[in-house]
Amino acid sequence: VATMNTQVISAHEDGAIAQAVEHLISGQLVAVPTETVYGLAANAADDIAVQQIYTVKGRPSHNPLICHVSDAAMTERYVDVNETALKIMAAFWPGPLTLVLPKLQNANIPTTVTANLKTLAVRCPQTDFTRQMIETLGHPIAAPSANPSGKLSPTRATDVVEGLGGKIPLVIDGGATDVGIESTIIGVQGNKLTLLRPGTITADDITEHTGFPVFDRADETITAPGQLLSHYAPDAAVRLNASKANDSETLIGFGNVAAAINLSSSGDLNEAAKNLFACLRAADAKNTGRIAVAPIPMHGVGIAINDRLKRAAAPRDNG
Ligand code: TXA
Ligand code: MG
Repeated sequence: VATMNTQVISAHEDGAIAQAVEHLISGQLVAVPTETVYGLAANAADDIAVQQIYTVKGRPSHNPLICHVSDAAMTERYVDVNETALKIMAAFWPGPLTLVLPKLQNANIPTTVTANLKTLAVRCPQTDFTRQMIETLGHPIAAPSANPSGKLSPTRATDVVEGLGGKIPLVIDGGATDVGIESTIIGVQGNKLTLLRPGTITADDITEHTGFPVFDRADETITAPGQLLSHYAPDAAVRLNASKANDSETLIGFGNVAAAINLSSSGDLNEAAKNLFACLRAADAKNTGRIAVAPIPMHGVGIAINDRLKRAAAPRDNG
């Protein structure tokens, strides 16, 4: 990818939506804020633009993208929305929840978006700028997290510029994201629900609203080949469940753990999720080469935080 000038504009600037939409219509990529992490957006109907996403991120071509929609009506043009999916959408959209649904045969979605799968992942983001941008475009956008593949997800516009500056023309700055980790992903096959990626909306939350159990993806054959074990990786090596730092380690605390960097000194799991990637970046910036992370309770939002940490700590040599 040729080096280009990366422009950063505020989401609140006059004409910001129009400028972003113009870029998308002309086949260019735009990094946009969502409530979870920043996304790298292309018009989902534009095959060449979608290919650019893979190139710019260095993303393996077998890892499919999420289509972001502005509402349920737009969703129904692309996927088969059954009663259970509709119930989940009504309860949690707009919000940090992605559904994997059967793609309609006549859906105008290039195979590059789905990596040739027969399903399509759909999500309606909460951040007004991005939802309104999609509504104005009139099409879904395909948008993975706006980071080089395998690295920490971006929760601030400056994180996007650090990772992808010079490779994309436009970044929309909507401030630090509220949720801080990627959306929960639920696979829907009839009434069978499968947790494909944990997030701040938990499996219990989904069961409460649908009455159906949510199965763990570990019980399933892998449908998304993109879930490589090493992911969300800082430059430093990561050690988990550490009660204190060893020599040369930078400690990330949680709750009542004395550490210069703390995910949430009050032990609030939502706050910890919001701070997770920024804390990992801050620990990386200490350049000690080693990060140790205090134990995070394995319940509620802690399940999603531990999922990200496990991948951050995984061996990096996965080809
Ligand atoms: O919060 C989020 O979901 C953020 C923001 C930008 O919306 N997006 C995000 O995208 O995390 P990405 O590409 O980093 O992660 C998408 C995940 C990948 O693990 C991919 O394998 C999975 O979704 N996925 C996409 N389409 C799928 C499908 N049809 N079936 C199963 N998994 C799918
Ligand atoms: Mg990602």
